[in-house]
Amino acid sequence: MGAQIMGAQIELIGASKTFGSRTAMRLALDQVSLSVKAGQTATVIGPTGCGKTTILNMVAGFTHPTGGRVMVNGRDVTEPGPDRGFMFQRPTLLPWLTVFDNVAFPCRHGHGLGRPHRADQIEAEVMHYLARVGLGDARDLHPHQMSGGMQSRAALARLLMAESEVLLMDEPFAALDAQTRLAMQQLLKQVIKSEQSLRTVLFITHDVEEALLISDHVFLMSASPGRIIRHVEVPFGKNEPYRDLVLSPAFTELKHELIDQLERLVPG
Ligand SMILES: Nc1ncnc2c1ncn2[C@@H]1O[C@H](COP(=O)(O)OP(=O)(O)O)[C@@H](O)[C@H]1O
Ligand SMILES: [Mg+2]
Repeated sequence: MGAQIMGAQIELIGASKTFGSRTAMRLALDQVSLSVKAGQTATVIGPTGCGKTTILNMVAGFTHPTGGRVMVNGRDVTEPGPDRGFMFQRPTLLPWLTVFDNVAFPCRHGHGLGRPHRADQIEAEVMHYLARVGLGDARDLHPHQMSGGMQSRAALARLLMAESEVLLMDEPFAALDAQTRLAMQQLLKQVIKSEQSLRTVLFITHDVEEALLISDHVFLMSASPGRIIRHVEVPFGKNEPYRDLVLSPAFTELKHELIDQLERLVPG
């Protein structure tokens, strides 16, 4: 819709994070290095508490590494900015606003730097992204009138509307039922690689299948303190129909290998 989105590179170089005071220090992340090229989708997967959210928070600029570097487009992240959009596990829609007004919110309130400010332009873009996520007919509904899947679609439309180069997604589909979740995975894959836009996505999940379905790269983390213990370049074609892909021996084999590796990380 708006300006062309070029995508930005994300890079962590030996990034560590220690929480706590001098008397009770706790190493949460231990020298995490990973890089995501512009236009690629990378997923971080690992046991609860291994520091996945902390990684996203550092890339977002909500918190900072205590060692090493966290960079976007070759520059150290110092603060949050409109070049990086965030989507959480809960859709976090404002309940008193319609879907339309929820999606328009970041533009109207100036979070989308360089985004349209004229009412007719905002209207056109909101309707464009609502149609993109299959909510073209739902503009006047309030969140309580919508299913979890529709709320998730609305949150995705709002994220896309900001036209950020980098999308940071923290288990965004974890609360959805299996069917809806699958639909959202397909939708995400379509929208991030469509139009003139080239978005760089850093995605967090617990779900190995989800990771393999949507990403170019998967990074597996150890339990606390979190370290990257494996990097998989996902070898599957991105345009293969879902059924063919998940039923293929190569997909099934890699999926089970990663699930086994993940299970061995969780004590008990
Ligand atoms: N603001 C904070 N203050 C203190 N400890 C924190 C803070 N944020 C996260 N932690 C700790 O860091 C570790 C990693 O947390 P988190 O990144 O949320 O893990 P994950 O998302 O993988 O479940 C956990 O042990 C958590 O308790
Ligand atoms: Mg988390």
